[in-house]
Amino acid sequence: MEIVTKNWEKINPLDINTYIRSGGYEALRKVIRETPLKVVSEIKRSGLRGRSGAGFPTGEKWEISAKIVADQKFIICNLDESEPGVYKDRIIAEKNPHQIIEGLLIGAYAIGAKRAFIYINGHYKKPAEILKIALEQAREKEFVGRGIMGSSIDVEIEIFSGAGAYICGEENALINSIEGKRGEPRLKPPHPPVSGLFGKPTIVNNAETLANVPYIIKRGADVYSKIGPSLSPGTKLFLLEGAVKNKGIFEVPLGTTAEDLIFNSLYGGGMEDGKEFWFAQIGGASGRLMPRGKLDQLLIYGPSEYPIGAGSILVVDKMADIKDLLFSWADFFHRESCGKCVPCREGTYRLWEIAKWLKNNDLKERDRENIEDILWTLSNTTFCPLGNFAAVAWSDAISMFSEEIFGK
Ligand SMILES: Cc1cc2nc3c(=O)[nH]c(=O)nc-3n(C[C@H](O)[C@H](O)[C@H](O)COP(=O)(O)O)c2cc1C
Ligand code: SF4
Repeated sequence: MEIVTKNWEKINPLDINTYIRSGGYEALRKVIRETPLKVVSEIKRSGLRGRSGAGFPTGEKWEISAKIVADQKFIICNLDESEPGVYKDRIIAEKNPHQIIEGLLIGAYAIGAKRAFIYINGHYKKPAEILKIALEQAREKEFVGRGIMGSSIDVEIEIFSGAGAYICGEENALINSIEGKRGEPRLKPPHPPVSGLFGKPTIVNNAETLANVPYIIKRGADVYSKIGPSLSPGTKLFLLEGAVKNKGIFEVPLGTTAEDLIFNSLYGGGMEDGKEFWFAQIGGASGRLMPRGKLDQLLIYGPSEYPIGAGSILVVDKMADIKDLLFSWADFFHRESCGKCVPCREGTYRLWEIAKWLKNNDLKERDRENIEDILWTLSNTTFCPLGNFAAVAWSDAISMFSEEIFGK
């Protein structure tokens, strides 16, 4: 089942006509004949949930901004994507940039925004260039700018390049960054759909979320909502990496099991020759560790023991050194902590120090006792979820592999 990846090999990302020939911008043409609230209601009925990680229902979020009367509103495509092992949004932008642009335009119309942004990771030079060319072509064809397709609707889109910080993917840090402020989270509420960019109602959506929107509008919410489980419908791009035979991006219906994704020959194809499955990390660097006995879990958005996050799955084999993994997780989060709150700034640093000592087999008994406190502090007291994320894989590793980590 392909929605996002469907035309990747048929479209020339540098030629808008190839996208138009595949039915591109028909969804936009369709929505501008509807009322904005009808468009919101269609997205709501589809059951689409945000593909950034938390799986927030997209239509419900749009509805909040759509119903507010304001002189200005904004919609932002989040293409920050700075988590290790996650590169799906970059590939969508490179393979089919207009799918993101069309989804963004539909979102802008639905909420009543005349200005939209694509906030892109500063390291993403090639996708930024492709998006820039795609935007110029969309403007020439009157899909973007004043009087879209001869209507009275105006939507301007700007590309805003961030510096490539992980925290700038968090919506409020991202908004601060566009405002020219330090990229760090803000206190919530108010949430961005009520008060975001420059204090105006602002929708921030992941690039993959927006890439689903044209399909929903064209095929209808009823068709979309029947793909996958009813509470978490549609397809999802998963990124398989590590000791799995076939690495890369796979689009599958939500509700597929981890077992199927990793071992089915259509997707991961099982373990690399000579390697034995140990566990899989589900959902990127901030994801939980899934042992063999849990591989039958459904990969979904919504309540789940193993949240799928942005869709990255790291398959780890029995030859891997858990201490190397502990170090790489701690190293990432201590570098990316924005430093605004003490529990995360200090906690991620302390964890990183401990990870170094562990790796060098130089861990003292008192450092071992501190781990539990640090993980509790990160899980319960930080200002934004980045601090919680830093503790997830560590907590699982300590409870599952205490012997491999500390010896007997
Ligand atoms: C530390 C942190 C990093 C994040 N990074 C990203 C990111 O790179 N891309 C993204 O779309 N959302 C990211 N998010 C989630 C955003 O705050 C926001 O919820 C998301 O863009 C909403 O999109 P969606 O509703 O389409 O899923 C991050 C959140 C946190 C806490
Ligand atoms: S939890 Fe970390 S990233 Fe979030 S505000 Fe505190 S220091 Fe910054």
